[in-house]
Amino acid sequence: MAYVDIVDEIARLKRERNAVILAHYYQESEIQDLADFLGDSLALAKHAQKTDADVIVLCGVRFMAETAKVLNPGKTVLLPDLDAGCSLADGCPASAFAAWRAKYPDHAAVSYINCSVEVKALSDVICTSSNAVKIVKALGDRPILFAPDRNLGRYLEQQLGKPMRLWPSTCIVHETFSQRALVKLMAEHPDAEVIAHPECEEPLLRLAHFVGSTSALLARVAASPARTFIVATESGILHQMRKAAPDKELLPLPGQDGCGCNECPHMKRNTLEKLRDCLRDLRPAISIEPELLRRARRSVDRMMELGASA
Ligand code: 13P
Ligand code: SF4
Repeated sequence: MAYVDIVDEIARLKRERNAVILAHYYQESEIQDLADFLGDSLALAKHAQKTDADVIVLCGVRFMAETAKVLNPGKTVLLPDLDAGCSLADGCPASAFAAWRAKYPDHAAVSYINCSVEVKALSDVICTSSNAVKIVKALGDRPILFAPDRNLGRYLEQQLGKPMRLWPSTCIVHETFSQRALVKLMAEHPDAEVIAHPECEEPLLRLAHFVGSTSALLARVAASPARTFIVATESGILHQMRKAAPDKELLPLPGQDGCGCNECPHMKRNTLEKLRDCLRDLRPAISIEPELLRRARRSVDRMMELGASA
């Protein structure tokens, strides 16, 4: 079917279903272009919280759709491809996380939103890369267990001067960025500003001029006086960066050995066809057992409260 026909069909199905399409910046550009709302993990969760649509299609990965469902138990939440996972969530099984928590009963468990709904239910509070500094700061002197992203955890330790116990998972995309390629690009473009997501490895973050969530990186490209940027995050974000700052030069940082692995294979599982099919069939839908949902909701609500008040 031609591109325009699929786009028309999606628009028709969306009206019929009273659906809203929320998409992450790492989605394919064609999905970004027809989304009703685009955002980072925090913005997607906040938007899901206030929508009055009956159906939410979350074009992102599973933990994002689960968060939308936790915030909207009465709505249908669809994920175009149910296998769109996340290496951080996969690297932190709930049973192992529960055992780790049990060893440190005096610690507050702060979990990055990139985790399963089961891990959310076992956590005290959730954070995203947008609000993690605020959330950890708001917990004051309490010792912290931070899961599952070791790199974000290390970055927070440095920002806050506070050691934490870190779960050892990483993002398969951000961990592959090549420091050698970065040093080479920096030498070729000495005026370029290096911007990086905090899921990158520590040695790379040390070279960055600006570190932030996907929304923060996008805002930085538009606001910075720099004309050239070396972008150390998933390449899907370049689509919005080009729109926000068409006159600026954007240099995506390649992975090790120049591989194309700066694309998240999970995010890219969603396609226009799968988006159309899920709106037509109302599946795959996210379903979470009520007691699990209630416990996960507590830690997500805590994030929203601390994020708003801190
Ligand atoms: P953001 O919270 O910055 O959108 O990051 C989510 C993510 O999965 C990055 O890899
Ligand atoms: Fe997970 Fe990394 Fe993909 Fe983000 S880019 S969804 S952290 S695997």
